[in-house]
This record gives sequence, structure tokens and C-alpha cells, in this order.
Amino acid sequence: MPAVIMDGKALGLKIRENLRLKCAQLDVVPSLAVILAGEDPASLSYVTAKEKALDEAGMKSHDIRLPENVNEDVLLSTINDINNNEKIHGILVQLPLPKHINEERVISAIDPKKDVDCFHPVSAGKMFLGSGGFLPCTPHGVLCLLREYNIPVSGSHVVIVGRSNIVGKPLANLLIRREFNATITVCHTGTHDITGFTKQADILIAAAGMPALIKKDMIKENAVVIDVGVNRVSDNSAKKGYRLCGDVDPDVAGKASFLTPVPGGVGPMTIAMLLQNVLEAAMLSKE
Ligand code: GUN
Repeated sequence: MPAVIMDGKALGLKIRENLRLKCAQLDVVPSLAVILAGEDPASLSYVTAKEKALDEAGMKSHDIRLPENVNEDVLLSTINDINNNEKIHGILVQLPLPKHINEERVISAIDPKKDVDCFHPVSAGKMFLGSGGFLPCTPHGVLCLLREYNIPVSGSHVVIVGRSNIVGKPLANLLIRREFNATITVCHTGTHDITGFTKQADILIAAAGMPALIKKDMIKENAVVIDVGVNRVSDNSAKKGYRLCGDVDPDVAGKASFLTPVPGGVGPMTIAMLLQNVLEAAMLSKE
């Protein structure tokens, strides 16, 4: 039987509609500064999608576009201004930043109370310790999808391919919490015989940023496969000259029990979780 396709688009929309209803009852408009430095087309399309979703939920986005050659001090002082602006509850700096900018320094300049991406060392540390604060959007989105489809996580072996600060590392950390209770293996570019590990996965999470890395013969029969990859591959037959391709070969659908599509799987969940954090940041600001 072909895999059940996990509809992140539908679940994301349902969550966003609930957030819109909650938002309408607040006496404050949750508000997010969205900073984009440079003109990377993929980043631009992510930022546009996030701003549209904020608007539809009745939240406000402050669109800050900086040139590719922006001076790091200008970026830092922009963040500092927003930290001190009570009307703006969250700050999102779209990554990656231009090469000459020190990403770590920029992220560290964000007030952790406004760090809706959960990238700041204080936010990451709190998440690591399980001591409150925001949850990172993509990992949180993956957890919501697993819950929505009643995938048994407790006691399962989850294999994560990819060790990024945005997905692989935080997801591994969240899944070992008692509430999720999974056993985790993290594979990366230094792993010998990746297939030896991926074949053991009850739940396989691909977050390596490599188009179609995970093939059908690399998974166990009936595994749950979550594809976090969003890769642009050139395709002359496509209108835009490229198409989106995940880290998982679509053939996997013939062997997996559940599979997330790309697009329409994890991506829309990331946006829904971002909006949830912005709402939380706005409520936090009133305390
Ligand atoms: N770049 C890729 N994913 C993300 C994300 O979730 N947040 C930000 N700020 N940048 C990204």
C-alpha cells in the first residue's frame, strides 16, 4: 500500500485559523520584524510567505530589507532598535546572511524574549534544558505533524539525517525529552554507511539539504519518513526554470507507511509554528 501523504499544508492552515481567532480576541496586535539582507531568491520567497501568513492571521509584519553589502554594525543597530521597540514583539533574521556578516554575532544581538526563531544561545540553551521559552519552528512543526497523524514516537528509533543548528540538533534534543521518549541516531556527512542506520529507523527525518538523498532501498518497510529538505533543482520544463525537491526520493512512497510531501509537508508547518511563537511573544510582552 502506498504511504499516507502527511498534509502539512492543511494542518498548517488549520493551526493558522485557530491563531487568527485567538489573535482577534487580544487587545494587542502581535507584531514581527522580518529582516532580510540581500536578495537570495529562496530567502525572499520564504520571507514573503511568512509575511502573507502573518497578515492573514491578523498579525503585523515590519518588513526590513537591507542590501547584500549591508554593514554588520548597521544590522546590529537595526536589531537593537527593534529590541527597544515595545510595539514589535518578535524579530526574525532570515538566514543565511551575506558571507561577510558574522551570523552568530547577529543572532546573539536579538533579545531572547523576541527570539521567535529560537536561534539565540539563551533560547537554544533553555530548549536544551527543557526550561521553557520558544520552540524552534521547523522541529516543532515536525512534532505537530507526528502528533496529528498519531505516529507512535515513544520507544521508537528516530534517525535524523543532518546536524544543522536549525533542524537536526534541536530536533534530536526535543525527541529525547521524556514527553517524546524516542531513541535518536543522528547521521551526517561524517557517517560511514548511512544506509546501515537509516534502515533501522522507525521514523526517518531527512534534513541534509541534498536532493533525493534518501532512496527506497535505504528505508525499512513501513517506516515513517519526514522530509525537511527544500532544494531548488533546475528544470527547463518548469515555468520558473526550477522545481522544488526534497531530500527524499518520491519512490520512497511505495515502501513507507507515512511520508511528507515537498512542497506541502514540513514547510507550511514551519510557518504555522512561527506565527504561534509571535502570538506567544506578544502575550509575553504584556506580563
Ligand atoms: N532559513 C532557513 N530556515 C529558516 C528559519 O526557519 N528561520 C530563519 N530566520 N531563517 C531560515
